[in-house]
Amino acid sequence: MFPTLAVPVIAAPMAGGPSTPELVAAVNEAGGLGFLAAGYITVEQLAEKITRTAELTAEPFGVNLFVPGTRPTADISSYVRSVTAHADKVGATPGEPRWDDDNYAAKLELVLALRVPVVSFTFGLPEADDVRRLKAAGSTVVVTVTTPGEARQAQHVGADVVCVQGSDAGGHRGTFTDDGISPGGGELYGTLAAIRLVKSAVDLPVIATGGLVTGADVAAVLAAGAVAAQLGTAFLGCPEAGTAAAQREALAEGSRRTALTRAFSGRPARGLVNRFLVEQGPHAPAAYPNVHHLTKPVRATGQMEVMSLWAGTTYPLATSAPAAEVVARIAAELTEAITVLAERFGRG
Ligand SMILES: Cc1cc2nc3c(=O)[nH]c(=O)nc-3n(C[C@H](O)[C@H](O)[C@H](O)COP(=O)(O)O)c2cc1C
Repeated sequence: MFPTLAVPVIAAPMAGGPSTPELVAAVNEAGGLGFLAAGYITVEQLAEKITRTAELTAEPFGVNLFVPGTRPTADISSYVRSVTAHADKVGATPGEPRWDDDNYAAKLELVLALRVPVVSFTFGLPEADDVRRLKAAGSTVVVTVTTPGEARQAQHVGADVVCVQGSDAGGHRGTFTDDGISPGGGELYGTLAAIRLVKSAVDLPVIATGGLVTGADVAAVLAAGAVAAQLGTAFLGCPEAGTAAAQREALAEGSRRTALTRAFSGRPARGLVNRFLVEQGPHAPAAYPNVHHLTKPVRATGQMEVMSLWAGTTYPLATSAPAAEVVARIAAELTEAITVLAERFGRG
């Protein structure tokens, strides 16, 4: 069963640094649900993070896994040349554009062995047998979806809950196939549209995610039928988050627009527009995680114009307050939104 939350707010799993045991614990202790991200780290690092989180909070928390896709077929040689030229300019050497599965199987065995309370999957579908094993171990299984069709597939493999991601979301889109930004690609549903379409397609509880920052946003998705709201960008500025300094700076400036791009990883993701995104984005192939490995040393320079500055469209509404304050503010705003609506439109 999905844990009962005092505040229907989930801190999104954010791979690449932002998700820390401290952030998870602070959100948990404030009445929400924190999530660790298993993506891009080793199995040993994940084990350490889970152990540390369990030391910091006795409340249930989640772990998110990247489901590996198939090896990309696109020819990426011209993109390798283009990124190499860009890397030269910032004094970096590109990485080897290899394919890997992010140690998915071993991470899955770890969360099973440690009986992590909530296990979520993105980028694809877990096997039905693995879902069954997780449920038998007591975990709630969540699958991120972006369309009603993906939600039907998640229901088919036995997911307990779907996390419905709208196109405002920061970071990678959870699409099962690489579409959504190509001509002829899949529909890009906004968060409210996605919730309602998914709810008409499947009979599962829905977590809503994408562009949600305030209590009024949470009230809106709850009114549309979600059981909780998953917020990423709203927590990026928190002192407990492991967000890079240049990204904090770019978020606080608030002057850039966001865009969907494959430039950094080979998979569509939303981030603040910088030079690398503008110059490389139009040529970037659908080749994840090869492109992720290719650009990693360039991003690791920490320079604002070549980093992936993941953020949702509503990032200017986010703050740099501690996570407990963020959750408390959202809870108060949610109560106020409900009260105002009841006063205006409630009958009797
Ligand atoms: C920096 C960053 C990293 C993210 N990493 C992950 C991840 O590892 N796994 C995942 O399922 N979603 C990831 N997401 C997407 C979030 O789960 C969520 O859908 C998104 O943050 C919602 O949009 P918002 O940022 O506007 O709140 C990430 C988002 C951001 C901003």
